[in-house]
Amino acid sequence: MHVMSSPALRFLVLGSNGGLGRALARQLAGIGSVTAWTRKDLDLSCLEDIEPKLASQAFDVLLNPAGMTSPDACVQQPELAQRINTEAPAELARVCQKLGRRFIHFSTDYVFDGGKTTLWDEDDLTAPVNLYGRTKRAGELAVLEACPEALVARVSWLFGPDKSSHPDQIITKALQSAELTAIADKTSSPTFTRDLCEWVQTLVTSHRDSRGVLHLCNSGTASWQEWGEKALEIASRLGVPVRTTKLAPLALAECTFFKDARPPHTRMSTERFTTITGIRPRAWQEALEEHLRAMQAALAFSSTPS
Ligand SMILES: NC(=O)c1ccc[n+]([C@@H]2O[C@H](COP(=O)([O-])OP(=O)(O)OC[C@H]3O[C@@H](n4cnc5c(N)ncnc54)[C@H](OP(=O)(O)O)[C@@H]3O)[C@@H](O)[C@H]2O)c1
Repeated sequence: MHVMSSPALRFLVLGSNGGLGRALARQLAGIGSVTAWTRKDLDLSCLEDIEPKLASQAFDVLLNPAGMTSPDACVQQPELAQRINTEAPAELARVCQKLGRRFIHFSTDYVFDGGKTTLWDEDDLTAPVNLYGRTKRAGELAVLEACPEALVARVSWLFGPDKSSHPDQIITKALQSAELTAIADKTSSPTFTRDLCEWVQTLVTSHRDSRGVLHLCNSGTASWQEWGEKALEIASRLGVPVRTTKLAPLALAECTFFKDARPPHTRMSTERFTTITGIRPRAWQEALEEHLRAMQAALAFSSTPS
């Protein structure tokens, strides 16, 4: 457990070794005191530990970005996925309701079946196509049933400095090879964890009564191919010695290496968030440029063969 201090609101962040958890802990330390728990501090698979551990910790807002986030891992361990993505969030919500604390839980665009290319609203019918999505959707419902004041933030295709994601991985591969592929017929909105954390900060400080399901993502649509090619183009411009800026298209149907289905088109509308806050999320391309510039400045990309 590590504690970062400053005055005002007291935040308890779970999953703080994860990509979003780390970013949230850093961001919220600027406006309050943050207690950042990892799996070692609270193993969410031990449901009976949740209430005593939360009750022993002083906090005003609990944020839960922890989860079993790999669809293929979920299908290999379905009972564990159900416990981490559905039952643990339900228990966290129940305890927050009992203690009178605010609860912000994170969910996914994969609650949708991906069967339309127009934007998904918060009220659209959910119909997850894989076990990860089903356990996350059941988690959303259970959270809101146990704690109707909770906020369930659905996010999509995260990238940021705390965890390697598709653009970083493509750049690393392109240092070695010019023959690369990426899925071209699967779309959503890539989302910068730094932007996401700023939106969450606004919600916890200026819109404390926001509740229910809310979509949070950068604007614009991308396929994995477009997302990767944009990353390569930016990297090339920044002087990273990538060997190509092009990715050959791959069809989702050809991806037999996936162990469970993936929804094709899951780009979400953020109109509800804009109505609440007045904030219009910027385009993912602009956010990606900021991320890659910071990574390049930190010399995170290297042409040394691995
Ligand atoms: N990444 C994306 O593109 C994406 C897209 C849509 C939605 N989301 C949602 O956004 C949230 C954050 O995603 P992320 O990418 O930051 O996830 P992540 O990097 O995979 O982090 C998840 C964290 O959950 C922790 N965790 C797993 N099992 C646990 C357990 N039994 N007890 C306690 N902690 C446990 C992991 O701990 P360890 O570090 O110990 O393994 C990890 O730190 C998740 O709810 C995810 O469903 C993510």
